[in-house]
Amino acid sequence: MSRMIYLDHAATSFPKAPGVAEAVAHHLGADAGNPARGGHRLSVAASRAVEGCREAVAGLLGADPGRTFLGPGATFWLNTVLASLLGGGGRAVVSALEHNAVMRPLRHLEARRKAIIAVVHGAGSTGVPSPEEVATEVRRAPTSVVVLTHASNVSGAVLPVAQIARAVAPVPVVVDAAQTAGSLPMDFAAMGVAALACSGHKGLLGPAGTGVLLLDRSTAGRLEPLIRGGTGSRSESEEMPELLPDRLEAGTPNTPGFAGLEAACRWLAREGVEGLHEHQMKLRERLANRLGAIHGVRLWGHRPGAPGIPVLSFTVDGLDNGELAAWLDRERGLMLRVGLHCAPAAHRRLGSFPGGTLRAGIGPFLDEEDVDALVAAVKDALSGN
Ligand SMILES: Cc1ncc(COP(=O)(O)O)c(C=O)c1O
Repeated sequence: MSRMIYLDHAATSFPKAPGVAEAVAHHLGADAGNPARGGHRLSVAASRAVEGCREAVAGLLGADPGRTFLGPGATFWLNTVLASLLGGGGRAVVSALEHNAVMRPLRHLEARRKAIIAVVHGAGSTGVPSPEEVATEVRRAPTSVVVLTHASNVSGAVLPVAQIARAVAPVPVVVDAAQTAGSLPMDFAAMGVAALACSGHKGLLGPAGTGVLLLDRSTAGRLEPLIRGGTGSRSESEEMPELLPDRLEAGTPNTPGFAGLEAACRWLAREGVEGLHEHQMKLRERLANRLGAIHGVRLWGHRPGAPGIPVLSFTVDGLDNGELAAWLDRERGLMLRVGLHCAPAAHRRLGSFPGGTLRAGIGPFLDEEDVDALVAAVKDALSGN
């Protein structure tokens, strides 16, 4: 069998940043007490791991560590934010490119008559809404929140979230940055959004089971926790403490995961997200140009030169997506995601529903040879070699 080429970075990163596995192993072997739940040295060491991670993530993403929250993933934090901001009932305006991590919590609230959902489809071919289109929808009826993916996990198109936040102010904007944190240079404080949730295991190159929430001052002051329990603080009370980050972080945290995430963020800060992004985007452009030039290959939601992340969706006329993906893996060692990528709304908008697409997610450790191997394999699959 040929060498293994991992092209599913948008699902989760692999390999992780240098030093991540070692940091996790070191934590489990040497520091694995329960943080903030004792004065002994292992508890203190575990607290240090969690707080070190918080500092490193906040530093990388331009956020205040006091309003940076650590948890199991973007999904958890999006559920937290949406349940809290719409708990009393309200209207949510969303893009047509949202992942189910946004749509399922919203549909759940809608079914319980707590949310009215308005979708902005965006006039262009990519489904990316303009600030004016979102603002027009917001003005149509009183709106509690605008929820936007920062980049589509299907097409890689980036949404102008900061410009949208300006256009809809003072309505709070919640950003699903699962695909962009660590992958696009980011300055949360300058974005002007109320909340940003992201994964620790995708572009941030950390372990699975980690995610981050960033809040602006006013949202931090009013957000309700999704789950309640022990925090190691104010234990005399049976109510959740007001103290942040404790109020939103009940239960024993994923300390090995956060030890790994800290190592990943420190590596990203040293390497520079901008340079890594440029490298990945060059590979994506090369892949798009070469795949797009093959007769019978269709690219979905791709607009050359438009702001993007290193994700590319394609299909091949006459070939079944699932069979092609299995063949690429088995015969060529190429691992891609196939199907709807948990974002049926985006596929509906782009026209690739219900069949979905094959999705190449390009990580920072790949090179031209890797993407060329995919192009060659698709040509061979088409010609029956
Ligand atoms: C756009 C988008 N939002 C949310 C998620 C969920 O992220 P997590 O795995 O961190 O819960 C994903 C991951 O697949 C995603 O691509």
